[in-house]
Amino acid sequence: MRKLEGKVAIVTGGSSGIGKETTELFLAQGAKVVVADIAKQAEVYVEGLVKEGKEAIFVKTDVSKEEDIQNVVNEAVKHFGKLDIMIANAGIGHPGTPIKDYTLSQWQQMMDINLTGVFLSNKYAITQMQKQATGGAIVNVASIMGHTGRDGLASYNAAKGGVVNLTRSLGVSHAKEGIRVNAVNPGFVETPILSGASSAALDHLISLHPIGRLGRSEEIANAILFLASDDASFIVGTNLMVDGGYTAI
Ligand SMILES: NC(=O)c1ccc[n+]([C@@H]2O[C@H](COP(=O)([O-])OP(=O)(O)OC[C@H]3O[C@@H](n4cnc5c(N)ncnc54)[C@H](O)[C@@H]3O)[C@@H](O)[C@H]2O)c1
Repeated sequence: MRKLEGKVAIVTGGSSGIGKETTELFLAQGAKVVVADIAKQAEVYVEGLVKEGKEAIFVKTDVSKEEDIQNVVNEAVKHFGKLDIMIANAGIGHPGTPIKDYTLSQWQQMMDINLTGVFLSNKYAITQMQKQATGGAIVNVASIMGHTGRDGLASYNAAKGGVVNLTRSLGVSHAKEGIRVNAVNPGFVETPILSGASSAALDHLISLHPIGRLGRSEEIANAILFLASDDASFIVGTNLMVDGGYTAI
């Protein structure tokens, strides 16, 4: 039995890394998927999925723009008739910068994409789910960096910390409507977001995970699927750590 049979899901940032694995896992589990991404290659990626017979559409979306999020929710309903699941995954990384060199515009860009983008994705998904009155599931992709601090990552730490508590707040607010809001909190995962890191930096990151390696995108996607599916029917407002033990130390 497929876990998302007949469900309609939006995956923001759904064409790369964790989002791409999630898109493909959701399709394999019977969902229709709207890939909401800002990247040029996302359109070609979704065309490939459609050629394989998958039920996916691409909607060019900048998650930091309110009109783009309204549009992608509308497109999901127009093409597939409803919205059951929102995966607020899109995000940008951070090379690590001392606060004195970090500009206000860099700070604002981080907040706009990694925190406001999640707020907007939740707001318009919940609004649509309330109209449908059949419940729904939202999974935000936060981070271990929302629970711990790391040298030079102030804005990323702050934005992800915001996602952690936004998830709790919305989980509490919408549980009675059957709309479950939860988050996964990955450790460091081998994706393009880490492409700027040197091999020494990667070795150091590996050493921080008791499991002795970085995560794989499919391991995060599996946790996202769990929280999005009825298997997690009593899980609300939680932050699931998927981090090889990083935060258990
Ligand atoms: N890789 C890690 O180590 C790690 C660890 C913890 C949390 N995360 C989080 O996981 C999520 C996915 O990251 P990833 O590692 O798969 O990175 P990635 O760079 O492979 O994917 C990010 C995706 O988001 C899209 N995106 C970026 N800005 C956008 C915007 N404004 N609007 C719409 N789409 C946008 C990109 O085009 C890309 O498809 C992010 O929120 C990231 O912070 C990643």
